[in-house]
Amino acid sequence: MVNATSAAAGIIGVIVLARHGDRTLYYQEPLTYRSQQAYLTSLGANQEYQLGSFLRDAYLDSNSSSHIEGINPENADMQQLRVRAEGGGGNAGVTSAYSLLQGLYPPTETAAIKLHNGSTVEAPLHGYQYIPVETIMQDGNPMLTPWIDCPYFQSHLNRTFNSSVWKDMEREAAPFLNASKPFIGSMDTNFTNMYNIYDYMNVQSTHDEGYRKALPPTFLEQARHFANMQQREVFNAQPINAIGEVAVRTLIPEMIWAMGNMTSNESPLKLALTTIDYQPFISFFNVTNATVKDPDVAGIPNYASALALEVFEGKDGEPELSLKFKNGTDDNEFRSLTMWGNDRVSLETFTTNLAYRTINNTRDWCFSCNETFSRGCFAMDFSKDPFLNPAAATY
Ligand SMILES: *[C@@H]1O[C@H](CO)[C@@H](O)[C@H](O)[C@H]1NC(C)=O
Ligand SMILES: *[C@@H]1O[C@H](CO)[C@@H](O)[C@H](O)[C@H]1NC(C)=O
Ligand SMILES: *[C@@H]1O[C@H](CO)[C@@H](O)[C@H](O)[C@H]1NC(C)=O
Ligand SMILES: *[C@@H]1O[C@H](CO)[C@@H](O)[C@H](O)[C@H]1NC(C)=O
Ligand SMILES: *[C@@H]1O[C@H](CO)[C@@H](O)[C@H](O)[C@H]1NC(C)=O
Ligand SMILES: *[C@@H]1O[C@H](CO)[C@@H](O)[C@H](O)[C@H]1NC(C)=O
Ligand SMILES: *[C@@H]1O[C@H](CO)[C@@H](O)[C@H](O)[C@H]1NC(C)=O
Ligand SMILES: *[C@@H]1O[C@H](CO)[C@@H](O)[C@H](O)[C@H]1NC(C)=O
Ligand SMILES: *[C@@H]1O[C@H](CO)[C@@H](O)[C@H](O)[C@H]1NC(C)=O
Ligand SMILES: *[C@@H]1O[C@H](CO)[C@@H](O)[C@H](O)[C@H]1NC(C)=O
Ligand SMILES: *[C@@H]1O[C@H](CO)[C@@H](O)[C@H](O)[C@H]1NC(C)=O
Ligand SMILES: *[C@@H]1O[C@H](CO)[C@@H](O)[C@H](O)[C@H]1NC(C)=O
Repeated sequence: MVNATSAAAGIIGVIVLARHGDRTLYYQEPLTYRSQQAYLTSLGANQEYQLGSFLRDAYLDSNSSSHIEGINPENADMQQLRVRAEGGGGNAGVTSAYSLLQGLYPPTETAAIKLHNGSTVEAPLHGYQYIPVETIMQDGNPMLTPWIDCPYFQSHLNRTFNSSVWKDMEREAAPFLNASKPFIGSMDTNFTNMYNIYDYMNVQSTHDEGYRKALPPTFLEQARHFANMQQREVFNAQPINAIGEVAVRTLIPEMIWAMGNMTSNESPLKLALTTIDYQPFISFFNVTNATVKDPDVAGIPNYASALALEVFEGKDGEPELSLKFKNGTDDNEFRSLTMWGNDRVSLETFTTNLAYRTINNTRDWCFSCNETFSRGCFAMDFSKDPFLNPAAATY
């Protein structure tokens, strides 16, 4: 059983962001951050399944100190769950969500139903529970991958690549990148490519025994170190409503809406789960100041990492939140993190600190990015908009 030291008994609901599991090789264009998801591997499916079991122990087991009040522990109640996943490419986000759900709500004979003629039927695979996953396709909906094809984010990237912080990192990483040449195939050793270099080393050393043996012992760790540093620059910004934080600005509205549902008597929602890639974690820990007390969470989260926002009733009856994080499968602990220096914050504080300049829908995203065509913006017809299309404006 998970001994999560929750701030108070009586969790009303939980919002979980989970990273996909181990996958095949992936490539992010280093100058634009365009990418498509790869395919989940069997290892990745196991990691997600384990994460699902972990969340089950933490939130569904009625003996857990962090048990969600009123949630059905055995038979998935679709009204209590909302599951979304990043879709596109090899769909590692979607298949991760299914694997996670298999651990969260494993097959059960208790879900068998009785028919008109008295016979009992159970779903296949000993009562597999078919929980719907809403797939957010990359092409038509920017909300889970909002940094892609966003012109203002591209300007942020251009500024970042040209910044003195970046140039210092580039200098620091140069000897390592030079030494990495024999181990990264035909990849470019330009520092802008650091994330891909780390990813290549990680994927090859997980799946290829020969590669693992040949790679010098500290290389993977060094690559991770530089990739962590680099991705922090790419997906953070100052101030928090800047476009550099876009990876999380499109996720916060859903969090706030889910919290509103959980704390209202009209909605049965208890668990809202989204499977995504690593980028929003980096932005989230920055905009909530979680990295001030725990600087180590500023890096890339491992595969099958999970971040949870637990919603509970505080002392004076006001909804409060606490933040938990688990850095992948090898991390057994659901560690408590602070937000703005506090173990718990009121829902109101969370909303006040973050709701301004959230990006609530595709239309907002088009404006926030100055994009008029891709990712669904074409459907909005901005042809007469004086901001997005100054040339055509009829002031
Ligand atoms: C909770 O703990 C009690 C006492 O240890 C045990 O009898 C019961 O089976 C446990 N319930 C679950 C759901 O594990
Ligand atoms: C009862 O109905 C189901 C579905 O129509 C059918 O598959 C099953 O064979 C029936 N059982 C009996 C005992 O007739
Ligand atoms: C970013 O830099 C690239 C290459 O220097 C350039 O082609 C592109 O126009 C720039 N984009 C923006 C939005 O500044
Ligand atoms: C990069 O920064 C230098 C000054 O540090 C500036 O002169 C140059 O125009 C910048 N280049 C781009 C593409 O922003
Ligand atoms: C790059 O690595 C090679 C060996 O792989 C070494 O001979 C050379 O001195 C290195 N260059 C720099 C600039 O570190
Ligand atoms: C790395 O790539 C960027 C973008 O293409 C380029 O501006 C820069 O000169 C490259 N740096 C090196 C050391 O090749
Ligand atoms: C968030 O990221 C920005 C940009 O890198 C940085 O200036 C700021 O200190 C970070 N905030 C925290 C709390 O670490
Ligand atoms: C976006 O959503 C947030 C959170 O629900 C809300 O506070 C804000 O007013 C919304 N913004 C717009 C422009 O609708
Ligand atoms: C859940 O929240 C959404 C967004 O705020 C709202 O539109 C919806 O009506 C809520 N549902 C219930 C049942 O409260
Ligand atoms: C997760 O752990 C890895 C080491 O396994 C570390 O490099 C990374 O910074 C950690 N990420 C977070 C978000 O804690
Ligand atoms: C968040 O941390 C930054 C330092 O990185 C600090 O300037 C800011 O005041 C903090 N915000 C809050 C709300 O505590
Ligand atoms: C927004 O994009 C349009 C082209 O679609 C461009 O003309 C305009 O200058 C951009 N605005 C800003 C502030 O970059």
